[in-house]
Amino acid sequence: MSSLALAVTAGFPVPATADEGGSRSQVWDIARGGQLYDNWAKVLGKELPKETHPAYPSTGKQKSGATWRCKECHGWDYKGADGAYSKGSHQTGIKGLRAMVGVDPKAIVKILTDDTHRYTEDMIGRGEMEKLALFVSLGQIDMDLHIDRATRKSRGEAGRGAPYYQTICAVCHGFDGKTLNFRTPEDPEYVGTIARENPWEFMHKARFGQPGIPMISLITQPDTMIADLLALSQTLPEK
Ligand code: HEC
Ligand code: HEC
Repeated sequence: MSSLALAVTAGFPVPATADEGGSRSQVWDIARGGQLYDNWAKVLGKELPKETHPAYPSTGKQKSGATWRCKECHGWDYKGADGAYSKGSHQTGIKGLRAMVGVDPKAIVKILTDDTHRYTEDMIGRGEMEKLALFVSLGQIDMDLHIDRATRKSRGEAGRGAPYYQTICAVCHGFDGKTLNFRTPEDPEYVGTIARENPWEFMHKARFGQPGIPMISLITQPDTMIADLLALSQTLPEK
């Protein structure tokens, strides 16, 4: 058996840049599915549709392309109306996906093409829908275990997260998290900003990576490690 095949059997993620071909592990598929949940168009090198999603409520504050991202209706914490999106500018009243844990991915793929969702194969190919479904069934977690919803504080420990941050993330984001600015020079957004303002988004992106961009996925690591990383990131400068 080749070392590659051994790695797959052992459940380790095989580095892959192309979607098709090669031996992909299920873990890699789940990570890819998590990125598709974040922004399928970015992952697939496409544009989000221009018109607002037909299932997006008229009372909602978002419009056009953004309303086609799974996270816009179901939340970064996968809890929809019961989670962080129960109020604020992303509120929709739509339910979350927590009841879908362990559900047959085939049934989930069916939901994606139903009259509510209307995703076509031109938008998200069949193989990619299967990865999304794998993420929904096997990749999502209960973020309330790691993040206090009221204070947005991580339940992890910054001291334990520091070695992870400094050896894994700092190479691109800098020791202080300020090497990459996600917004504008006038209104900067750094790792420290996101960690405080939207810890659920932080946790999702740390687990699965950033769509369409070469950023690592920590999906093979325990969720508690990511909570520690979040705790450390919440101590980094916001400005
Ligand atoms: C514009 C809003 C919207 C977007 C975007 C959206 N959904 Fe949904 N989704 C809904 C609504 C509304 C329901 C509930 C439908 C119902 O109960 O009939 C739902 C239900 C679901 C369910 C079933 C949940 C359950 O417990 O029955 C799954 C799974 C699901 N969505 C996955 C996804 C995925 C994956 C994506 C991204 C590819 C996505 N959705 C994008 C609105 C949306
Ligand atoms: C190989 C380089 C690289 C590594 C390693 C890396 N990142 Fe990133 N990360 C990026 C890039 C590039 C972006 C996108 C920046 C942009 O959109 O302007 C990004 C984006 C992000 C974002 C999302 C910003 C947003 O608003 O969308 C977060 C959060 C983040 N990284 C956290 C982390 C954490 C935590 C680690 C360590 C586990 C990490 N990154 C490791 C390169 C990296």
